[in-house]
Formats: sequence, C-alpha cells, structure tokens
Amino acid sequence: MTDTIITTWWSAAGGVGKTTLAVAHAQELAKQHKDDVALMDFSEARPDIYKLLDQAFLDPNKVLNAIENGAIANIKDFMSKKGNMYVFTGIPLEQFEMFQEKHFSAIIRSAKENFKHIIIDTNAGIFFSATAAALKASDKINVVLRPDILCLEDTATMINFLSERWGIDINRFRFNLNRILPGNLDLETAERVLGREIIEISLKLGKIQMPFKKPKKGFFNFLERSIHNAYKSV
Ligand SMILES: Nc1ncnc2c1ncn2[C@@H]1O[C@H](COP(=O)(O)OP(=O)(O)OP(=O)(O)O)[C@@H](O)[C@H]1O
Ligand SMILES: [Mg+2]
Repeated sequence: MTDTIITTWWSAAGGVGKTTLAVAHAQELAKQHKDDVALMDFSEARPDIYKLLDQAFLDPNKVLNAIENGAIANIKDFMSKKGNMYVFTGIPLEQFEMFQEKHFSAIIRSAKENFKHIIIDTNAGIFFSATAAALKASDKINVVLRPDILCLEDTATMINFLSERWGIDINRFRFNLNRILPGNLDLETAERVLGREIIEISLKLGKIQMPFKKPKKGFFNFLERSIHNAYKSV
C-alpha cells in the first residue's frame, strides 16, 4: 500500500513501556482499521508480545527461508491473527544471529504491501539489526522516556547519533514521558533538553492515555548545550 504508516516504539533505556504502549497502540488502531493493522515484535532475542496476547509463537525459520529463496509472497502467512490485527511474533535468541538488517527490512517491506498501519516494537538502544531496520523505515518514531535525567541524557545522545550518523529525519521523532514509572523529571526540563513537545503518559480512569498528538517541527541543533543547561538547573 502506498499510504501505509509505519510507527516504531523505541527507547534509549530498557524497561520503559515500549511493548506495553506498542500493543495498546496497535489494539486501538485495529478498532478503526479492521484487519489492516500489523503489530511487529522486533524485540530481537527476547520477543514477548505473543505472551502478552496469549498467542502461539511462530517459527521464524519459515520467513527466513522465504526471504532467502527470493521473496515473501504474503507476510500474513508468517503472522498470527489476534482479533482485528495481525502479529509478527518475532525472533528468539537461538535464531537471531541468522537475521540481519536486510531480513528485517524485507519483512517491513512485505508488511507495507498488506497493511495500512504497521506498529513495530523494538529493543532499547541502537545496536540490534531489527532496531536499525525499523528506525530507518519508520514514518514516526515514538520515543519513550522514564522520568529521570539519566534516561533523558541517554535519549538525547542516541537521537543525536541517529540523526547525524544514520540520517534519520529528526521530525519523525515524538516523545512520550511515561509517568507510570517512578522518577521526578519535570516536563519543562525534558522539553528544554529535547527542544520538543513531550506527551506525558499517565493512567486516567484506569486507561492508558495514548500519545497520538502531532509533533512540532525543528529541534536538536543545540542538544549538547541543552543538556548542559538542564544539568545546571536540576
Ligand atoms: N503506561 C504503562 N501502563 C501500564 N504498565 C506499564 C506502562 N509502562 C510500563 N508499564 C509496566 O512496566 C514494565 C515494563 O514495560 P514494558 O515491558 O512495556 O517496557 P519495554 O520498554 O518494552 O521493556 P524492554 O526494554 O525490556 O523491552 C511492565 O511490567 C509494564 O507492565
Ligand atoms: Mg519491550
């Protein structure tokens, strides 16, 4: 599909809520776009979405063979269905060495042919091939932060790297401060460091408030200085 939107949930630090939010996001989208939403577990080595959704784990060798033999005819053949959405259940540790960035890119390309919305859940950091493929292919990158200054600093440093070294357009990033997690980072400091609007995620009436706002344009030229200034003021 030409108008497919690919959204990746990513973070610099681990355990900040990516998987929780990616699943919630995909389920929300699937209510409006029945059978047109793909949730891809790209948490290389440690996929867990299939457990959260109580689904069978699919053997990734099959999709690997399809790619190696030429092409994936239909990615849906390698996904399981959960309600109104399709799920790619991922690659476990025993097999992840066989998958390279080009394999993950092929999986994304194939999903693009079949779905209007693709939601990808990634590992924290930037050192996995699945994360690299997802970040490069994404229209939107939803960054999740824990509310503490170290997480903020790691996030800013890594995004600077992604922007400068991998050429990822900074306007694709949007920031989500996960208030469910402990920490006292204030919104103002976080917005000053990142130079962008940040959406706070909280629990309201027992439901996760979903971060679907649009981002503002232009930031990151002065990240290093912003971090320095933020440190001075905390
Ligand atoms: N917004 C939220 N609402 C409810 N629970 C949350 C939320 N954010 C995080 N949690 C809880 O925090 C823990 C970590 O969340 P999750 O597994 O989604 O993080 P992650 O960023 O995907 O971790 P990893 O880097 O290990 O993949 C889980 O127990 C999850 O239930
Ligand atoms: Mg996760």
